[in-house]
Amino acid sequence: MAKILILYSSIDGHTKKIGNRLQQVIEEQNHQVKLVSIDDASQVDLQAFDKIVIGASIRYGKHSPKITGFINRNKQLLDSKPNAFFSVNIVARKPEKNQPETNPYLRKFLKQITWQPKELAVFAGKLEYPKYSFFDRTMIRLIMYITKGPTDPKAVIEFTDWQQVESFGRLIGTMPP
Ligand SMILES: Cc1cc2nc3c(=O)[nH]c(=O)nc-3n(C[C@H](O)[C@H](O)[C@H](O)COP(=O)(O)O)c2cc1C
Repeated sequence: MAKILILYSSIDGHTKKIGNRLQQVIEEQNHQVKLVSIDDASQVDLQAFDKIVIGASIRYGKHSPKITGFINRNKQLLDSKPNAFFSVNIVARKPEKNQPETNPYLRKFLKQITWQPKELAVFAGKLEYPKYSFFDRTMIRLIMYITKGPTDPKAVIEFTDWQQVESFGRLIGTMPP
């Protein structure tokens, strides 16, 4: 049995939901999982874990600076254990942009950090116009209009492929410690 940390950054809760599903799948493989928000990362003893997974959503083209800061501060420790990173964004709803090799945000992010995660995943996120502020809703609708996505201001759409999330969970569970 391995002790696995999933550290996430989530603004509207969808990356946390993905983290929850990963936790479920990994625990079904009889491992122990702790799911922690990046905001509480300082309270966690990273050395106590056998594997570390980091996940973050994209907002206006970027993962949270808290995630980048955490990765930069803990690169050596991350490198010393089996590890993985996943990105959640709406662009990944497009089949030609939903792989680690083809998702522009993940490609750019990996160039900005020196950590090279051992496993990578990209998951399509959730669109929830009614929840957004007027400014955010207008901006996202504009981006969606340009990229031929849904623009109905009442739209709530989960683009996530949960089977893909579950496969990633199983992969993490089987990574040798
Ligand atoms: C204000 C805002 C900005 C966003 N910017 C982008 C973006 O630049 N590119 C993208 O692909 N998705 C973008 N998204 C979509 C989010 O990545 C997606 O909704 C994701 O599921 C959010 O995850 P979270 O709830 O864990 O924060 C944006 C969403 C919001 C609300």
